[in-house]
Amino acid sequence: MSNKRFPDNFLWGGATSAGQYEGAFDLDGRGRSQLDYFVFVEKMNRERESCELNLAQYLAYKDHDEYNFPFRRGVDFYHRYKEDIALLAEMGFKVFRMSISWTRIFPTGEEEKPNEKGVEFYHNVFRELHKYGIEPLVTMTHYDVPIALTEKYNGWDDPILIDLFVKYSSFLIDEYKDEVKYWLTFNEINCIMFEPYCAGGMFVERTKRKNAMSLYHQGLHHQFIASALTVKYAHDHAPDCMVGNMLMSILTYPRTCDPKDVFANYRFEEYNNMFHDVMVKGEYPYSIFRYFKENDIEVKFVDHYEEILKEGTVDFISFSYYNSSTVKDEESNMDNPLANAHTDNPYLTEKSAYGWPIDATGLRILINKLYDRYHKPIFITENGFGTHDEFEDGTVHDDYRIDYLRRHINAIADAISDGCDVIGYTWWGCIDLVSCSGLEMSKRYGFVYVDADNYGNGTYDRYRKDSFYYYKKVIASNGEDVDFE
Ligand code: BG6
Repeated sequence: MSNKRFPDNFLWGGATSAGQYEGAFDLDGRGRSQLDYFVFVEKMNRERESCELNLAQYLAYKDHDEYNFPFRRGVDFYHRYKEDIALLAEMGFKVFRMSISWTRIFPTGEEEKPNEKGVEFYHNVFRELHKYGIEPLVTMTHYDVPIALTEKYNGWDDPILIDLFVKYSSFLIDEYKDEVKYWLTFNEINCIMFEPYCAGGMFVERTKRKNAMSLYHQGLHHQFIASALTVKYAHDHAPDCMVGNMLMSILTYPRTCDPKDVFANYRFEEYNNMFHDVMVKGEYPYSIFRYFKENDIEVKFVDHYEEILKEGTVDFISFSYYNSSTVKDEESNMDNPLANAHTDNPYLTEKSAYGWPIDATGLRILINKLYDRYHKPIFITENGFGTHDEFEDGTVHDDYRIDYLRRHINAIADAISDGCDVIGYTWWGCIDLVSCSGLEMSKRYGFVYVDADNYGNGTYDRYRKDSFYYYKKVIASNGEDVDFE
């Protein structure tokens, strides 16, 4: 019997996002979001591993509904939420991470009054979750910007987005505070550094900023401010709620022990720390101002930003973790520091079909590093294994997914034994949904198989995979039956 233990109230669950899961993009008054214009990758000539559109691609495809179906359709949670939540309850979920679609509440982002049917839909979902004792964990925006705000303001390029977002986020808090205790403001806020359209509704081609990095940092600054104001609003108006940040974690190792690689990795970490520092400590690290100066980056800081950031620090830290990366001096430059992380690592030979190396120890390291630096509760809001599944006889024998899950749960148990305060774990895409990078259905993460193909054909019926029963056992034993190493 292992002596590793998860806390009694540990929040086991799974995660989704409205854009990839909900569908019903044009029903009941919902407005269009920038996600509705993404095109299935095989329909256009674009990099597979990037969820991004440039202006030319957007203009070329925006009026071609036959191309941009994947996010619009999702996997129809909108109509199947009762059935899906019953499946989550059967697995014993304690928490369910989902996002609210901004345009279901405010269709263009600028209305004075919310769309009542959209508001009601989320009440129904929360009611259904609570029926089974499942806590919702709600992301206010998961890569989701009203397209009207992209068209009119170039998205988060314009500071007006701060006010529009805070109008939306404070409405969510007032409306749902009795049903939702756990909130996240922005999904993977650091992704705006390489996916400006996806994460910020911004086109580089349309900005008046000095250069692309100035635009990314400006949009990011506006999001930091909007997030801090939201956290403060929640603390003042809904003191029982907890609000977290959410980052795509980029855990890196120096590629070799050559001090040059170690220093390049140090510089990477210094830059990368900024994202949590601003949201958790409420301040930009000193090194970022040096970086801005050396790289000709201009950011217009909003008035009183230091005070705003200090007053809006988050209650817990959250992140996605899929794999680790390495940094090598010769491959590094400061043009866009996050691009210096590469997945090459001679010690990690096991990879997913998409080339993502498997590194459960990295998760233990990451949790320890974050807890050491910030001393805040940690919630792993995304982790998972996306690959092709063979559907046969009504199920999928996904021992590869079970193995990945087992190793990562083991790593979390180790981090808890190390003394870190970890409060929850939500597996990404617990029910198959549309993958973000390729907009395909064939990259699946779920414990539940959804009968839909890359072209949107299928019954959309749900089927339990082997991992469904494994995760159920994990949750029932509060992590004790996971075959600890
Ligand atoms: C995270 C995102 O980056 O990774 C999710 O928050 C995304 O939206 C997930 O789906 C997995 O990425 P992908 O490209 O495999 O779907």
